[in-house]
Amino acid sequence: MLFIVLSTAVAAISTVAVRAMKVIIDDSDPRWTYPPNQSFGAYSQQSPCTVCRSQPDPTLAMQGTWHDCTDAATATLNFTGTAVTVYAICPGPHDDGSYSAKLSFRLDGSSNGTFLDKQGGCDSYVYNYTVYSIKGLELGPHMLEVTNVPHDDPLNSSDLLLDYATIDDGRSSSAPHPHSNTNTKHVNIAAIVVPIVLVLAIIASLVAVRFIRHRVRRRDAHARRGKQQLSGTAVHRPTTLGERSSRPPSYYSNQGFSSS
Ligand SMILES: *[C@@H]1O[C@H](CO)[C@@H](O)[C@H](O)[C@H]1NC(C)=O
Ligand SMILES: *[C@@H]1O[C@H](CO)[C@@H](O)[C@H](O)[C@H]1NC(C)=O
Ligand SMILES: *[C@@H]1O[C@H](CO)[C@@H](O)[C@H](O)[C@H]1NC(C)=O
Ligand SMILES: *[C@@H]1O[C@H](CO)[C@@H](O)[C@H](O)[C@H]1NC(C)=O
Ligand SMILES: *[C@@H]1O[C@H](CO)[C@@H](O)[C@H](O)[C@H]1NC(C)=O
Repeated sequence: MLFIVLSTAVAAISTVAVRAMKVIIDDSDPRWTYPPNQSFGAYSQQSPCTVCRSQPDPTLAMQGTWHDCTDAATATLNFTGTAVTVYAICPGPHDDGSYSAKLSFRLDGSSNGTFLDKQGGCDSYVYNYTVYSIKGLELGPHMLEVTNVPHDDPLNSSDLLLDYATIDDGRSSSAPHPHSNTNTKHVNIAAIVVPIVLVLAIIASLVAVRFIRHRVRRRDAHARRGKQQLSGTAVHRPTTLGERSSRPPSYYSNQGFSSS
């Protein structure tokens, strides 16, 4: 029982380490930059866009924010890692037609593909809408440029609702993140699960220690009764189990996750 709980705790901790490589870079993160003119608008529940045709649900956007652009303009993501995926929100239909996204990409200064929705766009707002993904890059700094390419006239034109990117930051899977200023969804979940598992492990080991002591005492009582002889010393069997499980690995409390 104790062994199972302890191995669960260890497995949960290794999950933190392995999954910590995938890092979310929200559209509001300073690693994304936008042209200084008004071609991209930054929106959220607190700062809605009253004139925009596209009105996604802020509660379904990553971290509640997105950037909206219908001009010919470019957002740039500078990141360090080996993979990147860009997520947009696909606009739903509007009273007078639909937008269909047309985007072009440049990676480290060279053209790197395009994205084109089917004519008529999405039937409803679609979140976590992948518009670009690449992996196997050399670990190092990279620059990804995402350009909105307007086409046709106002509707059916391209509306980039940029929500977030994920990157693989390329860090070793066994190295904990000492002072990361990044967000990692899996890690946040693990940060909740791991303490619960550890508390369960401590409780389980305390119960186990009590149980063992109880049995030892009973056995001793039996022995005393058998020999018709009294002993004044209490049975004390030192156990290391409780101590061991109450001391988590030293790096565990040191992950430094932030949620902004
Ligand atoms: C988008 O993906 C994230 C991460 O996988 C998830 O937490 C979120 O619920 C998804 N959002 C929607 C609207 O499906
Ligand atoms: C904003 O700036 C970008 C690049 O700096 C340019 O491509 C775009 O046309 C500009 N948009 C407007 C509305 O001025
Ligand atoms: C992004 O990286 C490129 C290439 O290294 C650099 O020229 C540019 O200034 C960077 N942009 C920002 C906003 O840091
Ligand atoms: C994008 O860049 C990668 C890495 O340089 C390259 O392997 C790939 O062929 C490029 N894709 C396109 C569509 O240009
Ligand atoms: C816009 O899309 C609608 C269907 O969604 C289509 O009937 C219409 O012809 C398109 N308009 C243009 C200018 O492409």
